Parts: sequence; structure tokens; C-alpha cells
Amino acid sequence: MTATPNNWPTMNGWEKIATLMVHTVPSVAGGTLMVRPRARSILHWLTDPAMVSYFDGLRRKYHGLPLWGPGGTLYLLSSSDAHEMLSQPATVFSPASAEKRAMAEGMQPDGLLLSGGELRDRRRELNDEVLDYHHPVPRAASSDAAIVAFEVGEVLDSALVTGRLSWPSVKRMFDRIGRQVCLGRAARDDEEVTELLTALRREGNWFGRLPGARRRSDRCRRRLEDRIGAYATRADSRSLVGSMSDLPVDGSVRPLGQVPHWLMATALLGPVTMRALALLDSYPRSLVRVLDDLETADRFHRRGSKDHFLAQPYLTAVICDAARLWPMVANLSRVTTEDTSLGGVELESGTSIMVPAHFLARSQARGEEANRFVPERWLSGEAQDNWAYLPFSKGPGSCPGRDLGIFLIQEALNSFLRRATFRGRRSVVGTGEGLPKFNAFWNLAFTVSERVTTQSLTDIPVPAAVGRGKERS
Ligand code: HEM
Repeated sequence: MTATPNNWPTMNGWEKIATLMVHTVPSVAGGTLMVRPRARSILHWLTDPAMVSYFDGLRRKYHGLPLWGPGGTLYLLSSSDAHEMLSQPATVFSPASAEKRAMAEGMQPDGLLLSGGELRDRRRELNDEVLDYHHPVPRAASSDAAIVAFEVGEVLDSALVTGRLSWPSVKRMFDRIGRQVCLGRAARDDEEVTELLTALRREGNWFGRLPGARRRSDRCRRRLEDRIGAYATRADSRSLVGSMSDLPVDGSVRPLGQVPHWLMATALLGPVTMRALALLDSYPRSLVRVLDDLETADRFHRRGSKDHFLAQPYLTAVICDAARLWPMVANLSRVTTEDTSLGGVELESGTSIMVPAHFLARSQARGEEANRFVPERWLSGEAQDNWAYLPFSKGPGSCPGRDLGIFLIQEALNSFLRRATFRGRRSVVGTGEGLPKFNAFWNLAFTVSERVTTQSLTDIPVPAAVGRGKERS
């Protein structure tokens, strides 16, 4: 194609087809809002390695320049272009791309993700405040830690009897944790909330295009909103909805309209936890370091406190590198909301832009190092400054739940590792020259046995009720 209104190169016809085959089709068929394990196991296992080498080939051929691809989407294959674009205001380079809108509108029409203009800024402010973005631990840290410790304890009780820990129990555990952190302790066993959300995510996987999708989504969303509203009225001050009750926000922000995304996002915690456990199994020296830090943190600091969390920077780095190796959000898409420019080239309003985050993280441009598990890269600050590593994205559209999410995963890993040892049973990630580009977290399973030397989880005191708004240190 020659008639693009700018001077970035355009993929030729074969390259567009290949891009659809190795990137677009697997992403869509594997489930964008809700993983379809079978489709993903086959498609991504086959295409993830091919996708990385293919995009590397395009990057070399076109000198790393932004590249017009299928559907008139601009592909950013270099970290410097990703940096430039993701740093722009999210009101101009908006995360609310057409496909995200089609996927998520049925579930969260008032969510930050789909918001634009000045309303987006105000919703972003609310999200940052309530989710404690840029605070290493959430305000309700001790309450959240107690929830996680209790839930991990329950799962471990059974795992130690059967000798096995696998994905389904960890998934259900994080569903319970997510409901309690978001909605309050009373929501622990309210599986209907998760079922409604799952139904909405399934419709989203089909971009709301199945016959009758609108009607079904509206019905599910109304029931979900009713339940969220009921928990907000109870106002468990330790929960995210409870912490919003005294915030001075005007009605158009629709604080409770943010909650479906938060509940959905807690589904990302389990996969990262499983992968971190698998990596620690494969890298015994990292495990020893994690256990040493945990012992020191437990000896000198109150569990669930900021000091306890900060005494374990290596474990935080393990989590970040697990999230980097297999980004849960593999593609960051944006759409321009006005005529603008990128790298000095004019872009029309409505231009779709794709940052293939999984590719950037594993590209040969980063060297073989990119395919290794190296938590140290997060300790030196090198990874934080690297715009190829985007597990939580960066810039104004980045994840405001990052710090809360890392905290909850760290607490879960602490609770698992204090009490038990985990040996990979199958689909362990391996070591060797390079870690595989694809990892099926739903297939990870561990042989579990009691760790004899450490204190039992039942010794962890459950803190008294403290309000989310009162505890930030
Ligand atoms: C391991 C856990 C998590 C990962 C890997 C993750 C990853 C991400 C990524 C990559 C984005 C940006 C997408 C883009 O740029 O298009 C994002 C956005 C977002 N995340 Fe997370 N997330 C996690 C946990 C959470 C949690 C726990 C919450 C809330 C409770 C949350 C709330 C959000 C929200 C509200 C956005 C939209 C931000 C915006 O549009 O400005 N996330 N997340």
C-alpha cells in the first residue's frame, strides 16, 4: 500500500498476512478478556516463538521504524517509539481502542479504561487514590495481608494432604482474595460475583458480537452492579469500595463503575504467582535468597507492614521478572483521539497503534539476556527504565493497581513459602539458554510438602479491623 498519509513504511501484503497469522489471530482466538486454555495452548505454543522472530525480522528490515500493518494499525517495534507514544497524554493516545471498547463495554461502560477527555483524568485520579498507586503497600496492608494469609492457609491445608498444588485451587483462592479486597470480607463466598464477571468476560472475548450479547451483558452487568452496590452500602472500611465512601467525587466519575475492572484485574494475580513459584523451583539460588529475606523480614518486622514488604526487594524483583517474561497484557493498544504526531510524523485522529509488549520484552534487540530470569535487573533500576519491559505498562495509561497487585502476590508467596516447599510436577519453566516464550500457567502443578524449619501460618495474628483510609504509613 502506498497511500498512507505519512512517511512511515508499510508492511507488504505477505507481511500483513504473516502478522495476522502469528500475532492477531492467536491473540484473539486465545481469549483476550478471558483465557481460552485449549485454544491458547495450541495457538500460542505454536506462534509465540514465531511471533518474536518474525517481528525481529521486520524490525531489522525496516530499521526499527514504526510500521503500518494490517487494518491500518501502526506497529511500534522499538522500545524508543513505545516510550515516546506511551508517555503522551492518555486523553490523546487513548487506551480506549475500538477492540477494547467492543470487548469491555458490556462489563464496564463507566470504567477508566474506556473513558476519554477530562472525565478520564478524573477517573484516573480516583483509581490512583483508591488503589494506592505509587505507594509500596496499600493503606489496608495488614488487613489485605491477613486475608491473603488465611486464604493461602486454607489452600495449603488441602495441598499438604494431597501433596499437590495446581491451578484450579489457586484460581479459586485469588477469586476469594479479589472479592474480599475489592468488596469486603462479606463477599468472600459470593461466587455469583465472579460468575457474573466471568459471563461478561466471555461475551467480551467475542467482542460482544454473538447474537443476543447486548441483552445478556446488560442483564449480567445490572446484577453485578446491584451486588457491588450492596457491598458498598455495607462499607467494610478495609475494602476498596469501603474506602471510597468518604471521597469527595462528583457523580459523573461513577466510582462504583470502576469496580468491575478491579475485580477482573485480580484474576491476573494467580498466574503471576504460579509462574513465580515455578521460577523459584527452577532457580534454587533465587529461592535461597527469597527465603533468607523472608526469615529476616519475619524476625524484625510485623507481617503485612510496609517495613516487612520493603525488607524483601528481591522477592518483589522476582515477581516483576515473572510478569516481564510472560506479560499478562501481551499487547498495549491505543487510538488517537485527535490529529497528532509521533516521531514528527502526522497521525490522523482515529489511528490505531499497537505496542506488542510480549515481543518487545523478548526481542533479540535486548540480547539473549531478555530470555533469562534475572530478578537483579529490577534491583538495579535498569528494568524500570527500560521501555521494552512493560508488564504493568508505563506512562499515563499504565496500571494503577500495580503496587496493590505486587503486594498481594508478594504476601501470597510469603504465605506459601513459609510453610511448604514446592517442586514442579509438570510444565516447569526450565532454565537453560532461554526460557520459553510461551508458558501455560493453567498447566503448572507442584508437589507440595511441609517446610519443617519455619513458623506455622496459624501463628500469624489476624489484625483488628482497620480502615483503608487510616493505615497508610
Ligand atoms: C499482576 C497483576 C496486574 C498486571 C500484570 C496488570 C497489568 C496492567 C496493564 C499492562 C495495564 C495497561 C494496559 C494498557 O496500557 O493498555 C493495566 C491497566 C489497568 N489496571 Fe492492571 N494489572 C494488574 C493488576 C491490577 C489490579 C490488582 C488492579 C486493580 C485492583 C488493576 C487495575 C487496572 C486499571 C484500572 C487499569 C486501566 C488504567 C488506565 O486505563 O489508565 N490492575 N494493568
